[in-house]
Amino acid sequence: MLGTMFRQRMPSIYDMHACDHDALDITNAEQVGEVVLRLRPQVIVNCAAFARVDACETSRDLAFLVNGEGPGILARAAREAGAVLVHISTDYVFDGCKKQPYVEDDDTAPLSVYGLSKLRGEQAIRESGLERYFIVRTSWLYGPGGGNFVETIIRLAQEREELRIVADQIGCPTYTRDLVLAIYRLLDAPRRLDPVPGKSPYGTYHFSDDGQCSWFEFAEVIVALLRQHGSEPAVKRILPIRTEDYPLPAARPSWSVLSKAKYRQVTGARVSHWRESLKDYFEARFT
Ligand SMILES: NC(=O)c1ccc[n+]([C@@H]2O[C@H](COP(=O)([O-])OP(=O)(O)OC[C@H]3O[C@@H](n4cnc5c(N)ncnc54)[C@H](OP(=O)(O)O)[C@@H]3O)[C@@H](O)[C@H]2O)c1
Repeated sequence: MLGTMFRQRMPSIYDMHACDHDALDITNAEQVGEVVLRLRPQVIVNCAAFARVDACETSRDLAFLVNGEGPGILARAAREAGAVLVHISTDYVFDGCKKQPYVEDDDTAPLSVYGLSKLRGEQAIRESGLERYFIVRTSWLYGPGGGNFVETIIRLAQEREELRIVADQIGCPTYTRDLVLAIYRLLDAPRRLDPVPGKSPYGTYHFSDDGQCSWFEFAEVIVALLRQHGSEPAVKRILPIRTEDYPLPAARPSWSVLSKAKYRQVTGARVSHWRESLKDYFEARFT
């Protein structure tokens, strides 16, 4: 999903080579080495992951291979090629107990195999010896080209009269368009900050859209937008439920809003509110 948006939104200052899973398996060090040697990239953006949170619980080894070891392989290849690595991580590295926006230095405590494996991937990059990397933690992604909550609600709203949605998990949705633009802004930051002694722009960042909501509120807004765009969905009621009423294999943090203060400070950029970005997504999807 994120890779799809990178292809759509690539600024023309970059010459981009998009590699799918067949062309580049990030867990295959030999193949990664060959591709990096051939393309000689200045920047490597890793959109690959085993991102199906519940499936990670039963496929632990694969989760740790793709999410834990793959980023380390890419980081070592980036170091040898002199490239910058951008890697995407997740709010699920936190346990949700803080109830205040999480900053980059907050203690991590993943509740799921997915969160643990993603945290291992972050550690593998930090241990690789690569200095020029951005680890960007994000949350609740949606956009074209992938299964996501927005598309699931659009489908269910057309099929069912009643939706029961978890109301006690708070986070922030993120349109892939906004994350791609944020990554381009971060990549631009070294040009502006490098001359400042002791201020390396590289490292770990949090980025999501602005604001916060529960999955329930998010679903309500999705259905309202669906109606505004001329659709007459079958759904008549959306009911708030508790996490325990909808048991899933992987535990999720009950509160995982990410602070964008560091991102704002380094890039000087505005962060769009999730409601605003969701409207844009509907405009793009239905027109
Ligand atoms: N989705 C979210 O809500 C969310 C939230 C926070 C963070 N993130 C992070 O954001 C990033 C992008 O997520 P996404 O939702 O765009 O994921 P996605 O749609 O599931 O895409 C992941 C891609 O990785 C590929 N892949 C899997 N194993 C690979 C391997 N060994 N080598 C190369 N490619 C491989 C998959 O290809 P195949 O399908 O062919 O295997 C798929 O195309 C991930 O790092 C994810 O952890 C996502």
